Amino acid sequence: MIRVDREDAVALVTVDRQDALNALDLLTLTMLRDELSGLAGNDDVRAVVLTGAGDRAFIAGADIKYMSGLGVEEAMAWGALGHEVGRLLETMPKPTIAAVNGFALGGGCELALACDIRYASSNAKLGQPEVNLGIIPGWGGTQRLARVCGLGVAKELVFTGRTVDADEAHRIGLVNAVHDPVLEKARETAHVLATKSVLALRLVKRLANRALGGDHAANLAAEGEAFGELFSSADAKEGMTAFVEKREPRFTGR
Ligand code: CAA
Repeated sequence: MIRVDREDAVALVTVDRQDALNALDLLTLTMLRDELSGLAGNDDVRAVVLTGAGDRAFIAGADIKYMSGLGVEEAMAWGALGHEVGRLLETMPKPTIAAVNGFALGGGCELALACDIRYASSNAKLGQPEVNLGIIPGWGGTQRLARVCGLGVAKELVFTGRTVDADEAHRIGLVNAVHDPVLEKARETAHVLATKSVLALRLVKRLANRALGGDHAANLAAEGEAFGELFSSADAKEGMTAFVEKREPRFTGR
């Protein structure tokens, strides 16, 4: 259902429910939450890639058959579980990358949006088609799509429920790049990120997550504080010394 493979400091998380185009039911979403929670707290893992099994889908959304039987309370709990998964991807103290290898619809698009970086294969199709089911995005889509693509684009996509292909997704900023095979591109970036200072990446992710909300002046003050504090780290000393000595830095995470 959820596979986790390790390649050195990179974890590759694969949603594998191909008979339903990797749509997430309660069991799969719970497993995904548990695996991501473990990876978030595992210091040996320095970057996480999320993808779907097979070549047709990343995640075709929340499982509609499962959802069709839910009442109000259950639907709220279901939404909360999806939000928990999104928050883990968004806030875990290491980079997360979505390798969108096909359909990323509804909850699938929402989990991709919660990742720090999104790459798409040329056959990818992304969108928030919930309106066609008489419901709305419930795992962060009403907020994160606007943060990534701007409010005007987000409203058009969420109101109409239309899907976009890889080229349009790239044009509107929904994905960072289009590449075949997409997993290769995601893994390559993840391995590059795994060589960086974990301290610097953790801080810069936390600060970047504040960029579109809260008080601008307070966010800049937080950046100034973090910038200064990092100068007490061995990694900062190593990174700057390595530049001066014209060699590659060796970061230790301290
Ligand atoms: N939930 C449950 N099953 C799904 C599914 C989903 N989201 N998406 C696909 N499947 C299943 C299909 O029911 C089908 O199963 P059966 O063979 O048992 O009938 C199988 O996957 C293959 O799908 P299709 O035969 O439909 O394949 P297709 O190539 O004709 O169409 C598709 C592909 C356009 C992605 C189509 O499957 C589709 O529209 N899926 C639904 C997409 C969707 O609406 N996602 C949003 C869900 S709502 C949500 O996610 C809410 C939220 O915010 C949390």
